[in-house]
Amino acid sequence: MYRSNTCGELRLADKGKKVTLAGWVQKSRKLGGMTFIDLRDRYGITQLVIDGGADPELLQKAESLGREYVIQVSGEVLERQSKNSRIPTGEIEIKVESINILNKSVTPPFTIEENSDGGEDLRAKYRYLDLRRPPLQRALALRHRLAQEIRTYLDAQGFMEIETPYLIKSTPEGARDFVVPSRMNPGTFYALPQSPQTFKQLLMVAGYDRYFQIVRCFRDEDLRADRQPEFTQIDCEMSFVEQEDVLNTFEGMMRQMFKNALGVDIPNPLPRMSWYDAMDNYGSDKPDIRFGMKIHEVTQLVKGHGFSVFDSCDYIGGIAVSGCAEYTRKQLDELTEWVKRPQVGAKGLVYIKCNADGSFKSSIDKFYSPEEVKAIADAVEAKAGDLVLILCGAKRKTQTQLGVLRIEMGGRLGLRDPHTFAPLWIVDFPLLEWDDETQRFYAMHHPFTAPKPEHEQWFYSDKKEDLERVCANAYDFVLNGTELGGGSIRIHNAEMQSRMFEVLGISKEDAEYKFGFIINAFKYGAPPHGGLAFGFDRVCALFGGQETIRDYIAFPKNNQGRDVMIDSPSRIDQSQMDELFLASTVEE
Ligand code: AMO
Repeated sequence: MYRSNTCGELRLADKGKKVTLAGWVQKSRKLGGMTFIDLRDRYGITQLVIDGGADPELLQKAESLGREYVIQVSGEVLERQSKNSRIPTGEIEIKVESINILNKSVTPPFTIEENSDGGEDLRAKYRYLDLRRPPLQRALALRHRLAQEIRTYLDAQGFMEIETPYLIKSTPEGARDFVVPSRMNPGTFYALPQSPQTFKQLLMVAGYDRYFQIVRCFRDEDLRADRQPEFTQIDCEMSFVEQEDVLNTFEGMMRQMFKNALGVDIPNPLPRMSWYDAMDNYGSDKPDIRFGMKIHEVTQLVKGHGFSVFDSCDYIGGIAVSGCAEYTRKQLDELTEWVKRPQVGAKGLVYIKCNADGSFKSSIDKFYSPEEVKAIADAVEAKAGDLVLILCGAKRKTQTQLGVLRIEMGGRLGLRDPHTFAPLWIVDFPLLEWDDETQRFYAMHHPFTAPKPEHEQWFYSDKKEDLERVCANAYDFVLNGTELGGGSIRIHNAEMQSRMFEVLGISKEDAEYKFGFIINAFKYGAPPHGGLAFGFDRVCALFGGQETIRDYIAFPKNNQGRDVMIDSPSRIDQSQMDELFLASTVEE
């Protein structure tokens, strides 16, 4: 046995015990003839002490220890003179009787403590050292805890965990696929799954009516704080269910996860909001409902007063920002520049200051009487002391810009506390989304989502307006402004699935080539089914109070999709290229 206890375990009640610990030297210092060493493992830190009168060989060994040396020590648990209330082992120390150096370490490139002095790139290169730090240990421990909660809950509900293949067929519809050349089938490629979507539906056809998998998915898309090229889904599917059954089942899972991992009670039942209300009131299909500041349309009130910017617009809307009437000229100019950034994309910003004395000052005073300005402020539910911010343009685009502005102002006002949790379901999504650029419809969720039964007549219509009206039994689980998961009730008959491909402009031949297997399977008694998938990395990050998922993944990629520790992606040997029948068009 290398150790009798871990470095996070011993307390005052263990006083007098002889123990053996093993771990890493966090730091060592000399004080009044004594040598103190902080010994760390993933359970905590224990202080070791060697007094000046100890055996000279032991003293010399203690003094030779560098940071991150791996040692084994034996000694007696003593009560500490000066206690440290910040760590659980802070009331004791170990009076060292022997030290065994298990391994030396070169000096690490950054400090391995709660807060490191290492920059992001350096820590990524030495990820195995960064992972020794408590914040990352806590993040991975939370991930582990949540995975256990998920398995326990779903197992109790009769779900079976079934693995699906990673080497599949390329069918890019959403993001780009990562592809893998096949040596045995020259000139052909597998694709890595963007999700197990079609396989879980085939499992439903096969009769495994409650499936789940905590599964890696791969998408070649531009990366952000909450996106990785390989990420993990809690992927689930159920047969003989309606939307209500799916929402209840997974609301239950989330409720248990919140309760058991964080001790947090979330509302029962969870609020639900239609996609249309989310867009109209929050300018986002993933609204952050930790705070109000809703968007209000004022088009009818402000149009037709000779202000050409407004008069030429489809939609004008605003938000009331609490307590910001005192924004200075400079602050308003800065905010105007902020909304004009390409990430927001507004052309300009109109403001109304609702002064504490009941008067108004706006950037449109020339065009509107004080009563009219007041009416606009009232319409966005502004109170004395508030700042009204107004944007205009095409409806959905402007609402989205207002949504981004709302989130920014909510952040500035401190209304987005990461430890406050406001989950909800977004329901009643449109089935299809028209894209002007490519002049075709895209599936808002994915091509396997069924239209609402009451909208089927429009689904079979050839008119664009009819198709735009079709809603789906699709739903997203949203937490604090992040989409944590989404799913839908699926199409389960071959004819409707073929119609879907037709609506999406996928030719019969192409549909047959890419999705023939599933259309075919639907001919053999496919049950009604539906499901969803949560982004597990995002769940972990939000539960941990963070926006970025990287710390919740042991070995993540950077923003360029690179693993700088193993230096990947990288070139492969010419012989490997030859074996795979590949040639590169990139100059060496
Ligand atoms: P969807 O594409 O919405 O649905 O993905 C489900 C959830 O996965 C997470 N997610 C990601 N997380 C990290 N990095 C990424 N690149 C990334 N992409 C997605 C999100 C998202 O909500 N097969 C369907 C689900 C279904 O219909 O059952 C699907 O994949 O949290």
